[in-house]
Amino acid sequence: MASQSVTKVLSQDLESTLREDRVFPPPPEFAAAANIPSLEAYESLYARSIADPESFWAEAASELHWFEKWTKVLDWNLPNAKWFVDGKINLSYNCVDRHALSDRANKTAIIWEGEPYGSDGTSQIRKLTYAELHAEVQKFANALKSLGIKKGDRVAVYMGMTPELAIALLACARIGAIHSVIFGGFAANAIADRVNDSQCVAILTQDTSYRRGAQIQLKKTVDEALANTPSVQHVVVLKRSGAEVAMQQGRDHWWHDLVAKADPTCLAEPLDSEDPLYILYTSGTTGKPKGLVHTTGGYAVQTYLTTKYVFDLGNPNHPDDVYWCTADIGWVTGHSYVVYGPLQNGATVLMYEGAPNHPDFSRFWKIIDDHRVTIFYTAPTAIRAFIKWGNEHVEKHGLDSLRLLGTVGEPINPESWMWYRERVGQSRCPIVDTWWQTETGAIMIAPIPGAVPTKPGSATRPFFGIQPEVVTREGDPVPAGSGGLLVIRKPWPSMARTIYGDHERYQKTYWSDVPGCYFTGDGARKDADGYYWLMGRVDDVLNVSGHRLGTMEVESALVAHPKVAEAAVVGRPDDLKGQAVVAFVTLESAHNSAATTPEALAALKEELKKWVSKEIGSLARPEEIRFTDALPKTRSGKIMRRLLRELATHGTIQGDTTTLEDFQVIAKLRESEEG
Ligand code: PRX
Repeated sequence: MASQSVTKVLSQDLESTLREDRVFPPPPEFAAAANIPSLEAYESLYARSIADPESFWAEAASELHWFEKWTKVLDWNLPNAKWFVDGKINLSYNCVDRHALSDRANKTAIIWEGEPYGSDGTSQIRKLTYAELHAEVQKFANALKSLGIKKGDRVAVYMGMTPELAIALLACARIGAIHSVIFGGFAANAIADRVNDSQCVAILTQDTSYRRGAQIQLKKTVDEALANTPSVQHVVVLKRSGAEVAMQQGRDHWWHDLVAKADPTCLAEPLDSEDPLYILYTSGTTGKPKGLVHTTGGYAVQTYLTTKYVFDLGNPNHPDDVYWCTADIGWVTGHSYVVYGPLQNGATVLMYEGAPNHPDFSRFWKIIDDHRVTIFYTAPTAIRAFIKWGNEHVEKHGLDSLRLLGTVGEPINPESWMWYRERVGQSRCPIVDTWWQTETGAIMIAPIPGAVPTKPGSATRPFFGIQPEVVTREGDPVPAGSGGLLVIRKPWPSMARTIYGDHERYQKTYWSDVPGCYFTGDGARKDADGYYWLMGRVDDVLNVSGHRLGTMEVESALVAHPKVAEAAVVGRPDDLKGQAVVAFVTLESAHNSAATTPEALAALKEELKKWVSKEIGSLARPEEIRFTDALPKTRSGKIMRRLLRELATHGTIQGDTTTLEDFQVIAKLRESEEG
């Protein structure tokens, strides 16, 4: 189908009228069998969780396996939190052994589907029961040990969506090694930055991975990165496609060789509740991406409980649920809601290797039908793409197994929410719009599906034990209905504890902007019913197709190009991606517009786009590059991004018809901004 505007499709197709005050109560048949079956049940448990969070979280923690119980639930000295103090726990044990050693041993833990179709027209499918996952995790944990990897060591993981990626995380968690997953779309420099920042001793990767019919050269990119990563002693390579890759004797090991030699038994290490579980890098306003550190006990408890209640998993009324979160494990959603949350709940988790539009636009719907998926969790950016691709792809499929839908990663516009409800959920499935962040580790605001009525576009109400507030810069609450900054007043179990190697930056970034609170970086509004409406970032962080990107990261990549003098990057609203990257660039004088032909400038734009993809990864590739003779700045030298955002969005500034590229206009604007 020819590409068309999402807005146009929606206005033609939606039967429902869209009103902001539209409310959808939980379907009675869903509520009747849900883990939390009514609004009253939600409200009384929420009230209890806020009146006494420590006993609420302790009760949740008691549902997990602990080698030794904690002596104190919370030790809080802003911004330093310790949860389940002195408790000894292992997440690998809670995800795997707890089920493998029970009557769930033969339940399917992971269903995996590869992207390519073979010559017989079928795709590759693998299923692992909890007992089989247990065996694989133990062997790979021993394989890591055989390389000398031990508790506290940092292990980078740069893989595609294979069962071995989940096994890698669980094996690290089993022995107390700290995993640092790097999304498979990042380029060699981005890998090297992350590996060096936390001094990883090993990288786990694979020969290639499949994406949209192409093979992504993971090992080759790792080899490029390894030219600048002296801390790495070992590379473990999973053979996924069998593509030829260079192996360096002594340093590089085939996954299957290590596992073949590994002892089958590896008991889970009793770890301290506050031992680090993983580092995950995410973009901020300034500097390079920061390595958020998540620890073990609190993260285990909150990912477990949010999955149980928000996705209604581990529900005895639905033992055959097949749960599919489409996120890549390279992002926090994959960590918490592909691996740790659902496996702790003993769920059957579907993992799909590739793209939603390969070989055609109905791949996701076919997967849902083929595997009888009951719970489906994806991103608004994917939903907007489905809408653009046309209803016929969805309508071809029954989708009758679905009972619950979720979204995450960016605000969802009410029109897309309605499309998701009507076309995918067939007006039968509740939608949980889940707000949270890499820093929060787990869901913070989301409807409990059997209990809380939903409103299209709102993440609705807080999870148990969570107290969000909308405040002014000074920390004063704003009245209902007014916009403000979203903060969290009290600590929560799965909060990131620090930024790796830079605790001061952690305090400054998150706990200093609004006095006494954790500042999320998001704007929000709370309505008269206590529902939260997220309004996007209020800082220089972009959200491009649900991926978080710092404007400064892209600017640094651009100025590293020899022809670029200065760069300023802003986000422009985009029908499909949410935000698109627009870069304003000034060139070194030998290349500026006066000195170069229009053809050469056009070629340079393409060159710079490619350059950013090569420096960071294609997710950062600018949609548009605009050359300018100067950037508008305040007298103190700060780039006036507001003006650039306006220009990128509307083409003009405040009705002014002259373009920003004209230096005189910039000068005039500078005067008016400062004066
Ligand atoms: O702006 C918010 C947006 O995504 C940011 C967090 O990005 P990241 O750390 O990459 O984690 C994404 C997955 C949890 C937030 O600051 N965001 C996330 N979920 C929502 C959202 N915005 C609106 N509604 C959501 N449900």
